Amino acid sequence: MTSLDDLPLRDDLRGLTPYGAPQAPLPVALNVNENTHPVPDAVASDILDDIAVALRDVNRYPDREFTTLREGFAEYLGHGLSADRIWAGNGSNEVLQHIAQAFGGPGRTAFGFAPTYSMYPLITQGTGSTWVAGTRQPDYTLSAEEAAEQVAAADPDIVLLCSPNNPTGTPLGLDVVEAVYEASRGVVVVDEAYQEFAPRDAPSALTLLDGRPRLAVSRTMSKAFAFAGARVGYLAADPAFIDALRLVRLPYHLSALTQAAAVAALRNAETMLAMVDEIVEQRDRITATLEALGYAPHESWSNFVLFGGVSDPKATWQSLYDKGILVRDVGIAGHLRVTAGTEAETTAFLDALASIESAS
Ligand SMILES: Cc1ncc(COP(=O)(O)O)c(C=O)c1O
Repeated sequence: MTSLDDLPLRDDLRGLTPYGAPQAPLPVALNVNENTHPVPDAVASDILDDIAVALRDVNRYPDREFTTLREGFAEYLGHGLSADRIWAGNGSNEVLQHIAQAFGGPGRTAFGFAPTYSMYPLITQGTGSTWVAGTRQPDYTLSAEEAAEQVAAADPDIVLLCSPNNPTGTPLGLDVVEAVYEASRGVVVVDEAYQEFAPRDAPSALTLLDGRPRLAVSRTMSKAFAFAGARVGYLAADPAFIDALRLVRLPYHLSALTQAAAVAALRNAETMLAMVDEIVEQRDRITATLEALGYAPHESWSNFVLFGGVSDPKATWQSLYDKGILVRDVGIAGHLRVTAGTEAETTAFLDALASIESAS
């Protein structure tokens, strides 16, 4: 049988492992931070109407500039943004890949504070750039001073700041973003995939965009918008930054059907986002119950909770799996990560965990 070793693969890709969160068909899937609430019926039928219209023109290539969608994102984000400062892709992963293609590459580096989103190193390496991991405090927080020092020392071409951070849920102060921007000569990306789950009064890095042409703020419809399967992510930055991304995107990268679905979903933003408060409630319930069970949950501003104090994460993961519940072993010693589900899913997880008694 042919193996990768038999193929003329790029040397720098040899030995890498692809992204591979399990996609097991379990009744309670709380492992990839999706929004487990389905799109409401009324919104689904509104989206379908728009897709039906787009389908009639699907013999033609779509609007390469996805103008209506960019206008929709500008309006949703507010902060005085206009469509010329917006970019989008098939998931924020693709948007991040465009950044790595435009600003990274062989001989260049991307930097992030570990542990952080597992796709950052993979996207970086996929473009031939080198991933450099910085460090956090034991509770995963970062001060502006230490962050700036590490970035200045590493001198990367791209800095990826995950806010709030995945897989830890840790909030990131805007003072850290400002300090890192000052300390770097490369582009600074604040990945706000989970921003909608942060406290309402927590300011976004969008407030820092004016006057900082190397700064970009990325978002996704996969989480709060319950749109993970549609694959839509987006970004706000200076118009020149957007022009850089145009150089590397494939023509017509956002299909007419994706554009139609996303525009219709944005039109229904209020209904689509109605579940955010309920999810935050379940997240806080998870934190409180885990504490009561003797685990050590970390503060989370996202839709998931990382918890320590697990004596044998692999065994606990398997016991939960056997009870029909999928959580994530993110490879941090003594820890597991769980996504806040519906009330019923969350109850199922908490009851199952209580029955296992695996707190150390
Ligand atoms: C921090 C972070 N950024 C980006 C993404 C990618 O999301 P998507 O490509 O679905 O927009 C994820 C997904 O889990 C994430 O956790």
